Order: sequence, then C-alpha cells, then structure tokens
Amino acid sequence: MALVKILVIPGSLRTGSINARLAAVVAKEFALANVEVTRLSLADYPLPIYDGDFEVKSGVPRNAVNLERMMSSHHGIVFVTPEYNSSLPALVKNAIDWVTRVEDRGRTQGQVFRERAFAMASASEGKLGGSRCLAALRLILSGCRATVIPNQLALSFADQAYDDAERLKLQADRDALQAMVTQLIEVAQQTMRGA
Ligand SMILES: Cc1cc2nc3c(=O)[nH]c(=O)nc-3n(C[C@H](O)[C@H](O)[C@H](O)COP(=O)(O)O)c2cc1C
Repeated sequence: MALVKILVIPGSLRTGSINARLAAVVAKEFALANVEVTRLSLADYPLPIYDGDFEVKSGVPRNAVNLERMMSSHHGIVFVTPEYNSSLPALVKNAIDWVTRVEDRGRTQGQVFRERAFAMASASEGKLGGSRCLAALRLILSGCRATVIPNQLALSFADQAYDDAERLKLQADRDALQAMVTQLIEVAQQTMRGA
C-alpha cells in the first residue's frame, strides 16, 4: 500500500504561536509513526474574507485552489488551532469556507472534505485547552461531511506543557497525542482502501 500522507495545518500565523509549536510536535509524532507528513503555513495561502460578490466577479482565488490541491494530495488532515472567543479563528473558518467553494480537476465542491480523514488539536494557556474551539470545528467539518476522528488533543496550560527536549511533559497529553496519531493513520488507511 502507498505511504499514508498526513497534512498538518496550524491555525495561527502569530510569531511564537503556541499552536504552531504544538503543530510541530504533532508533525514529529506522525513522522515517528513512519508516515509522510507535511506542515504548511496558512501565510502561504492568503485569502480575502469570503464574499459572494467577490466570487461572482473574480472566481475562487488561486490560493484557495492551491490549498484544496494541497489537502487533496494527502490522506489525512490535522488542524491545530487556537480558540478565539470559544470558537475557531476567522483564519481557519475562512480557509475552510473558500476551500469548500473549489471545483478543480474533476473534484466537486467539498469533495476534498468528504473523502479525507480529519483530526483536530488545540493549545491554550487556559485550563480547557481550547476544547470549545474543537467542538466548533468538529461541527463545521462534520457539516462538510468529513470523517472527523473521535480522538483529539486539547492542550491545557500550553505555556508550561513542554520539557527541555520539546516533548509534552504530562503523560495524559502524550497519550492523547498518541491516540490521535494512531487513529488518524488507521482511518486514513481505510479511506485510501475505499478510494
Ligand atoms: C480574540 C481572542 C480571543 C481569545 N479567546 C480565547 C478563548 O476563548 N479561549 C482560550 O482558551 N483562549 C482564548 N484566547 C487566547 C489564545 O488562546 C491565545 O492568544 C493563544 O496564544 C493564541 O494562539 P497562538 O499562540 O497559537 O496564536 C483568545 C485570544 C484572542 C486574541
């Protein structure tokens, strides 16, 4: 069977982002599980805020098409996103909104979501670890008829979560990460077999 390919998408562009930091740890865990992993930055896919008039006039932006192609070329996708006001940041929602509008290379609108396995993680300096954002994101992805795996990682007190070797300090966090990685690979493999 072809190697499973996993795409990690951090939901923050901020210098020193705790979610970009967690995304690096997540990507490393996939690499240790012997799958091919790509970590992108949404800074490389700048998009206007979705506006139907813009779409009618100018079509779907090239960066949305490129992002959809990047997602399509992987079997499993992980969002690692901050929580903003109990939900997800506009950066992530806007990227999802635009990608659902893409029709490309015989793929219909939203097909990239329907045919892939998704996982989610979030990091917050608070106690809940961004878990309300994960609930919101799960609802959105499920609405896109994506397969969203049950295991997820909400990293609480993320500013204190790492040891000197940049590993997660708490066994509970390591277990949650491991469970998410293992399950996404399994479900992505099933998706590949069904394709
Ligand atoms: C507009 C805004 C809303 C926020 N709302 C929440 C929230 O609801 N829950 C939470 O845990 N943190 C919240 N935060 C704090 C973020 O978790 C914190 O800024 C975090 O560092 C952002 O992620 P990043 O470091 O990956 O950019 C909020 C931050 C901002 C700027």
